[in-house]
Amino acid sequence: MIPTELSSCAEKLICGRRATRAFRPEHVSEDTMRRIFSLAGAAPSNSNAQPWQVEVVSGAARERLAGALRRAHAERRTSVDFPYSEGMYAQIHQTRRAAFGAELYGALGIGPDDRAARAAYDSESLRFYGAPHVAFLFVHGDGEPRLAADVGAYMQTLLLAMTAYGVDSCPQGLLSFYADTVRHELGVREGKLLVGVSFGYADETAPVNRVRTERAPLESTTAFHH
Ligand SMILES: Cc1cc2nc3c(=O)[nH]c(=O)nc-3n(C[C@H](O)[C@H](O)[C@H](O)COP(=O)(O)O)c2cc1C
Repeated sequence: MIPTELSSCAEKLICGRRATRAFRPEHVSEDTMRRIFSLAGAAPSNSNAQPWQVEVVSGAARERLAGALRRAHAERRTSVDFPYSEGMYAQIHQTRRAAFGAELYGALGIGPDDRAARAAYDSESLRFYGAPHVAFLFVHGDGEPRLAADVGAYMQTLLLAMTAYGVDSCPQGLLSFYADTVRHELGVREGKLLVGVSFGYADETAPVNRVRTERAPLESTTAFHH
């Protein structure tokens, strides 16, 4: 195996991306945004159908949406397009999730049983962790799982394009629990909301941004057949 210029870039890019949960208020320029979202559109999809619709929200629209999400959260008005249940995770995945939760809440100084503090943190996360922009990824059509998988590929391409341009991000599944609120605020009529991606520039002084996640060893997720 001989590393090349491209492989070193890929190593840097893929390992350089991480979820950011505290942002500075500076905006990403219009030019940079257009470049990033154009690049993300190069994502692969089944038969090149590109079944995504992306809504990028900034400025006054972001403020209005954050307000609407705060109200929906306070009134417990949740709505999901893609059903969610804890039961969808196998035991091994639950174990990884618990380890991640302990790491994250530890960095925030929130104890394992402090439900009030965790709820307060959820409510902060509905303000996009302070990010000046948020992109909502909708799955067009009936939202069938294969179409959602294509939008997942789009999401990762988007996150890497952001990393390449020095833009930090956090995919937020939590935002998809307020699908009707997002749809209503943005006037979206078609598609199912898969995920929101908050983005901007990281506040490097925030302890939460020092969280580093690990990955399962290759052998536990990948088999090579000969
Ligand atoms: C589909 C998806 C949904 C996610 N939802 C949330 C979320 O609601 N809140 C959050 O803080 N992080 C969320 N994350 C970020 C993950 O926690 C993070 O990617 C994972 O812990 C690995 O860490 P890393 O991204 O820093 O490598 C989500 C990630 C993905 C891919």
